[in-house]
Amino acid sequence: MSQEERQRWNDKHQQSSAPREPSAFLRSLADRLPRKGRALDLAGGPGQDACWLAQRGLDVTLVDISDVALAQAETLARDAGVSLTRLRLDLESDAPPPGPFDLVVCLNYLWRPLLAAVPGLLTPGGLFVFAQPTRRNLQRHPHPSARFLLEEGELPTLLPELQSLSFTEDWTDAGRHEARLVARKLQQAP
Ligand SMILES: C[S@@+](CC[C@H](N)C(=O)[O-])C[C@H]1O[C@@H](n2cnc3c(N)ncnc32)[C@H](O)[C@@H]1O
Repeated sequence: MSQEERQRWNDKHQQSSAPREPSAFLRSLADRLPRKGRALDLAGGPGQDACWLAQRGLDVTLVDISDVALAQAETLARDAGVSLTRLRLDLESDAPPPGPFDLVVCLNYLWRPLLAAVPGLLTPGGLFVFAQPTRRNLQRHPHPSARFLLEEGELPTLLPELQSLSFTEDWTDAGRHEARLVARKLQQAP
């Protein structure tokens, strides 16, 4: 990942400074998500999901490549009266922060090798929540482009060590065709 890519994301975040709502998918899982312990938001952008999780009681770490997104997340957290650990990392080349986490969230970011690291970041019984558009999304939207899209049926094959609790691929209310997964790391054998 180049400095150019960081700049590209910084510009993008700079241009969309309006606060975003927490993910509808994440909110739909409210009853199933832990309210205490540690959470990690991978490529968490301006922090709307991380702040929502922190407001619910989790100790949240947000990772993103963009300084602008991290600054936006800091402001959002301050306004919400919560604190976040914010780390500027390039998830294509830097290791994610050490776990274990009770919850790992990755929404709208796809770097396939990162998924292989997720089981190692979770506590036994910890949850992973992931959503990303599939190729079918191109039928209605030119972006994200094909290299950022999942093949249909691909997602569970990228996480063979986790137990899938729910997996859907469908058009969402927001009009995107998304793969959505909630998966759990199995408890260690006694
Ligand atoms: C489409 S946005 C999604 C942000 C947030 N998860 C959400 O759902 O609103 C993708 C995010 O990935 C971040 N990103 C892109 N490449 C990255 C990389 N190599 N390492 C870490 N973050 C990256 C961007 O800065 C951006 O915040």
